[in-house]
Amino acid sequence: MVRAAAHYCRHATISFAVLITLLVLSGCKGITITRLWRQGAIATAAPIATDIGLQVLRNGGNAFDAAVAVGFVLSVVYPEAGNIGGGGFALIRNGATGDIRSLDFRETAPSAGSETMYLDEQGEVIEGLSTKGALAAGVPGTVAGLFELWEQHGSMPWQELVLLAVILADTGFIVDDYLSRSLSESRRELDSYESASAIYFPDGAIPQVGDRLIQPDLAATLFAISAEGRDGFYTGEIAKKIETSCLKHGGIITADDLGSYRAIWREPIHFKFDGYDIYSMPPPSSGGLMMGQILKLIEPLDRQSIEPGTAKYIHLFCEASKLAFADRSEHLGDPDFHKLPNMLLDGIYLDERRQLIDIAKATQSIEIAPGQSPPGESEQTTHYSICDSDGNMVAVTYTLNSSYGSKLMVEGAGFLLNNEMDDFSIKPGFANIYGLIGGQANAIAPDKRMLSSMSPTLVLQQGEPFLALGSRGGSKIITTVAQALSELLCYGSTLEETVSRPRFHHQWLPDSLFLEENKFNDDLLRKLTYRGYDIRERTSWGDLQVVMIENGLFTAASDPRGGGVADGL
Ligand code: DON
Repeated sequence: MVRAAAHYCRHATISFAVLITLLVLSGCKGITITRLWRQGAIATAAPIATDIGLQVLRNGGNAFDAAVAVGFVLSVVYPEAGNIGGGGFALIRNGATGDIRSLDFRETAPSAGSETMYLDEQGEVIEGLSTKGALAAGVPGTVAGLFELWEQHGSMPWQELVLLAVILADTGFIVDDYLSRSLSESRRELDSYESASAIYFPDGAIPQVGDRLIQPDLAATLFAISAEGRDGFYTGEIAKKIETSCLKHGGIITADDLGSYRAIWREPIHFKFDGYDIYSMPPPSSGGLMMGQILKLIEPLDRQSIEPGTAKYIHLFCEASKLAFADRSEHLGDPDFHKLPNMLLDGIYLDERRQLIDIAKATQSIEIAPGQSPPGESEQTTHYSICDSDGNMVAVTYTLNSSYGSKLMVEGAGFLLNNEMDDFSIKPGFANIYGLIGGQANAIAPDKRMLSSMSPTLVLQQGEPFLALGSRGGSKIITTVAQALSELLCYGSTLEETVSRPRFHHQWLPDSLFLEENKFNDDLLRKLTYRGYDIRERTSWGDLQVVMIENGLFTAASDPRGGGVADGL
C-alpha cells in the first residue's frame, strides 16, 4: 500500500510526513465535537475529509486550499454525494480584501438537450429518464469549480492538494458504518451498472465496517486531474471516456460539451436580517433569494414572543415559505437564459406579500399565486464549511443530485455521473424528485443550468466573519438553512441546539407540512392540524455543517443526523 502511494507521491512535492498521516487517517473514524479553536475550523459530512482539511491548514494552506482538498477527498470517501461527476456552488470571503463572491459550478444541459427530451410522442413524461442513467446527467462542473477556486485563491500547489485524494482512492480507506449502510441502501440501483457494482461491491459483497475500499480507476482519474489541472478532466482521455460511456448508455454528453464547460463567478445575494449581513447563492440557485424572502417576511413579526419549535413559530415560517416557493416556481431559472424580476427582495413587494399571511390559520396553497413582476420588467448532496484565521471563509455545497446520482459510473474512470437534469422543469407543472414544479424560466435549453436549492451561506457581524453554513436536503435545504439562521441570529441558539433541533418544511406545493418523524409531540401536532395543515411525517433530513467565529475564536458543529465531524486547530 505504501509503495503504491509512494508511486503517486513521486510525481508531486507532497511530503512523506503528510503521506504517513494520510495513511493513518485513512483508517480512522471521527466524532462530532464542538470546541473553541484559534486557527480555524472545518465541518464536513465525512470524518476523513475533515481530518485532511485540517491537515492542509496545519501545513500552512489557507481555507481555499483546504476546500479544494476536501472536495476531492469527499469524491473518494463519500461517494453518495462527494463527486467529480456533479456540480455545485461556493460562497467565499477573501480575508485579505474582505470581498465576498459566489462561484457557480452547476452542471449544464448538454448541447443536444431540448425541452422535449424526456417526453414521449404524446408529450407525456417518460418515467425515470431524467433521474437514472446517462440521459439524466448534466455536464459536470465540480472539477472546473475547484480549479477556479484554487487558481484565484489557493496558496499551495494544486498537485499536492489533489494528490491527497489520489492516495485515498489508490490505497483505499476504512469503510465506516455510514458508508456501509449507504451502499447497502443503494445496492439494487448501483447493481444496474457493472462499472459501479464492481467498485462498490467487490466480490459481490456490501463493504462492511472495517473493510478497506479501493478505487483504482478513480485514483488514475484524480491523478490526471492533479497532473494537468482542469484540462485533465475536460479534455483528452477522461473527456473521451465520459463521452463513450454516455453514448453507449443512451446519453448525449460529448467531449465538446466538456471542453466548453466554465465555472462562473456571480454577485452573491445579500440581505440584512436582524442587523447581520447575510450572503448566499444567487440563481441558478434559488437558495439565496428564497431564504431572503422567508427571513425578510418574518423579520417584522413579533418574533421575540414566539419560541422556536412552537406551533405559532412553525406556522409563520411555513406561511412565509409558501409565498417564497410560489415565486420560485414562476420566476427562477438560469439568469443567463431568463431575465429575473428585480422585485423578489424588494421591501415594498415583500410588505404586500406579507399581507397574505394569516396569523391564525394555514393559507391554502391554492389561494397563493406567484407574485407578478412589475410591467415592463422583462435526496444526495453534501455541504462543508471552512474558515481560517486570516478571515478567509468558504462554504461549499455540491452534489450528484440524488444518492449516487445517475448510478452510471464512467467506464474506466471510476466516478459516477450526476442525475441533475431532473432539476430542470422537464414539463411545465411536472414535479421533480423533490416535488418542485416550474415553468418556462427553468425549461431545458442547450448549455443552460438547472435551478437549484443549494444554499451555501456566509454571515458577517458588523463586517467581521461570523458564520459559514449550509446543508443537504433538496428543496428542504432552503428551509433548513433559513431555520438555522433564524435560530442562531434571532434567538441566540447555540450551534448544538441549532443543528439538533427538529425540522419542519413547507414548499407551497404539495400543500403539506412536512415534520421530522417522531420529533414533535401530540399536542403540537393537534395545534397544527387545528390551524389547517395537512401533516406528513418524514424520516430525518438535512445535514448542517456550521463554523462560527466569535471574538477571534472558532467553534463548529456537524449535524447529528449525518456521519460528519466538526473540528479545528
Ligand atoms: O440542486 C438541488 O437543489 C438538488 N439537486 C439538491 C439535491 C440534494 O440536496 C439531495 N440531498 N439530499
